[in-house]
Amino acid sequence: MVTPARRDLHGVTKLAKRTLTGTTLETLVSLSKRRGFVFQSSEIYGGLSSVWDYGPVGVELKRNVKDAWWKSMVRERDDVVGMDASILMHPDVWVASGHLESFTDPLVECKDCNRRYREDQVGEACPHCEGEFTTARQFNMMLKTFLGPVEEAAATVYLRPETAQAMFVNFENVQTTSRKKIPFGIAQIGKSFRNEITPGNFIFRTREFEQMEMEYFCEPGTDDEWHEYWKNFSMDWFKSHGIRGEKLLMRDHDADELPHYSKASSDIEYEFPWGWGELETISNRTDFDLKAHAAKSGKDLSYFDDQKKERYVPFVVEPAMGADRSALAFLADAYDEEGEGKHQRVVLHFHPDIAPFQIAVLPLSRNDKLVPTARRVYDVLRPHFNTQYDDSQSIGKRYRRQDEIGTPLCVTVDFDTVEDDDGVTIRNRDTMEQVRVPIENLEIAIRDQLNLMRKDCQG
Ligand code: GAP
Repeated sequence: MVTPARRDLHGVTKLAKRTLTGTTLETLVSLSKRRGFVFQSSEIYGGLSSVWDYGPVGVELKRNVKDAWWKSMVRERDDVVGMDASILMHPDVWVASGHLESFTDPLVECKDCNRRYREDQVGEACPHCEGEFTTARQFNMMLKTFLGPVEEAAATVYLRPETAQAMFVNFENVQTTSRKKIPFGIAQIGKSFRNEITPGNFIFRTREFEQMEMEYFCEPGTDDEWHEYWKNFSMDWFKSHGIRGEKLLMRDHDADELPHYSKASSDIEYEFPWGWGELETISNRTDFDLKAHAAKSGKDLSYFDDQKKERYVPFVVEPAMGADRSALAFLADAYDEEGEGKHQRVVLHFHPDIAPFQIAVLPLSRNDKLVPTARRVYDVLRPHFNTQYDDSQSIGKRYRRQDEIGTPLCVTVDFDTVEDDDGVTIRNRDTMEQVRVPIENLEIAIRDQLNLMRKDCQG
């Protein structure tokens, strides 16, 4: 529930810290379908298990998550540059990286119903029929395909299971062309694929997903310090984009859970409706990957430090997160149900930079007098804010619809606008307060309100 509002020094309402009602995964899945966030893939054919498509609202949400990350990680930093590599890579990449040999999960199969599970996620007997399991075998999670017209072993390539490897194999290209000195990082956002044995929980665990990863190359011996730095940076990123601090925790991996390339890994977990789940892993990958690629390719991937006059293979610290999982966490965290009876509403309290649309322009009705002015207001705002125009159904229904997709501000054009004051009302999603401003001051008034909402959203 939203706690009572208070006024700040500028006379604009600020929200007290939010305490939101919890929700279930089913509620989020049904809201997602109803409002155009996420649909099941190939739904008219009965769907494809654990594969999802983003609709007109969801695509904006996910794009905002990726843009916010890119801004914090690349555009606002001097020491990180970006790249965008192909999904397909030379098959030797996966030999050198260890994925061909070690990117496996232990698979068990029920001898009675033939259902398959990850051994570490089930008990002694099949959860479906209590049947006995086969002994576990290691199942490689990389998805295979063939390049060219002949399906033969020599043509086998893999859909990348992480974006990271492209940053390692391009280390020298990027370092020399960007003229960056160590420490510096390479960031990338892109699709990865894993043949997960047990995908599930909506867009939390899928076989095709998007990752946002950054490989930070540093001098050996400084890696533990950078690991701490990137743990703090990542946690702050979620909080400053509106995820509540009490729903996040940092968990260091035990030695037996470390990925094959890691000396130390820490997960940021979020409390999803079904329990705690990993959002991001920050790992100290040491010099494992650069050394492995140097050995396999025969190319020297060391770095000459011209201040210290020393040559070394850099260590790498990697914050690695999922765009889809983060989008789900933002959705779950923003969800709230308020009021009763006629006043009941579902509202998503997204941070303004994460909200799919920042503004909705709503003429009070489709009256011929109002529509041209409303379209003019829409044209004034859309170069500056991601803005939706909506004139179908009653104004009350349209407010509720915008609340359900988390639009921070609605701008309403009414008869006074055209007959009297050339002013419009701005309705605040969280407080439902309305203020009237002249159209000529609208852009600046919106900026002020969004800035206040950004402050209110700090987790
Ligand atoms: N390069 C390191 C790496 O890939 P990871 O912990 O396996 O590390 C990083 O993956 C992040 O990618 C995870 O924290 C999660 O957010 C996301 N991710 C991994 N597997 C996923 C899946 N099957 N579905 C959705 N997101 C996934």
